[in-house]
Amino acid sequence: MSYKRVVITEFGSPKVLKAIEETKLPEPKSGEVRVKVLVTSAAFTDVMIRMGKYPGVKQKPPFSPGYDLVGVVDKVGEATNRFEVGQRVADLTVTGAYSEYVCLPERRLTPVPDGLDPAEAVSLVLSYVTAYQMLHRVAKVKSGQRILIHGAGGAVGTAMIQLGNLLGLEIYGTASKSKHELVASLGATPIDYQTEDFVERIHTLTGDGVDASFDPIGGEHLKRSFSVLRRPGILVSYGFYNAVIGKGGSIPLDLLRLNLWNILPNGRSTAFYSIGALRKKQPAWFSKDLTDLFDLLAQRKIEPIIAKRMPLSEARQAHELIENARVQGKIVLNVV
Ligand SMILES: NC(=O)c1ccc[n+]([C@@H]2O[C@H](COP(=O)([O-])OP(=O)(O)OC[C@H]3O[C@@H](n4cnc5c(N)ncnc54)[C@H](OP(=O)(O)O)[C@@H]3O)[C@@H](O)[C@H]2O)c1
Repeated sequence: MSYKRVVITEFGSPKVLKAIEETKLPEPKSGEVRVKVLVTSAAFTDVMIRMGKYPGVKQKPPFSPGYDLVGVVDKVGEATNRFEVGQRVADLTVTGAYSEYVCLPERRLTPVPDGLDPAEAVSLVLSYVTAYQMLHRVAKVKSGQRILIHGAGGAVGTAMIQLGNLLGLEIYGTASKSKHELVASLGATPIDYQTEDFVERIHTLTGDGVDASFDPIGGEHLKRSFSVLRRPGILVSYGFYNAVIGKGGSIPLDLLRLNLWNILPNGRSTAFYSIGALRKKQPAWFSKDLTDLFDLLAQRKIEPIIAKRMPLSEARQAHELIENARVQGKIVLNVV
């Protein structure tokens, strides 16, 4: 039986995303199950991978991108016992999910409770787990504390506002003006980073600053995110937006700076968060945190903001929207 997938033919612009047809379904090896993919997504992280600028991916094109998926177990391989055909599962694949079928080690998969919308469920796998782990496992913020999140109208930003509300945090978020209505409607105070100095604005709004700031922008921006912390605050860096879009900054220099600020006796700390690195170090946390998030979704305590649901065949257009910062929340790609 044939099946379709989207591949990156070479590193570059969205044009390098091409749909191809494979003539034969992949067969699960020992310890693997075959998953019929229902939904995946387009995120800034997929854009970085497509450009060849994602530090964690060493694959060379052609390969399928696709960082996350929700699907149905379609066939089980030998030496598997956790899942039956027909069960819904989720995974953070990092690459490979832009495909109708994919074989995955069953130990990596997290069951998806019945009754959840697959599009909402897939929104949790990368974006909400990232927000959740940064809040709970890295910054360990407590009720009543103040946080600043950059890119507050994006997929991780909107997730963090919703999760921050559940924790009882006071939340400030930078975003361009077009996303302020969304950011405010979720309960955060929006700051227009394009027309205001966010450092000044934070000091005017809070007096002595915030307890945690979350920075996916990098470069010189990190210094400013560090400067809005009151003691003993923490800066969590988790991306290199500016370096990727050619606005300056260097990934090795950012990591060096973070380490230096963490060592210096300044009453504040820093951390770099990577969902993949944390999963490698603490494999059980990923599945536990995702399961807890599925529970919150089932109780409607969180409600993913889905900007668009597009067919996988429109992956190229989805990447263009992300790259042009035209997305409020998440883009889900329907595979079936
Ligand atoms: N470390 C990890 O494990 C991990 C995991 C997931 C994501 N990430 C990173 O987290 C970042 C956000 O991911 P995402 O999926 O939420 O992306 P997204 O949905 O594309 O949202 C990012 C938003 O940031 C805004 N932005 C751009 N420049 C900004 C600036 N200077 N200040 C404030 N906001 C700015 C843009 O909207 P406006 O300009 O219109 O406001 C953009 O839409 C990406 O860099 C991604 O790679 C890291």
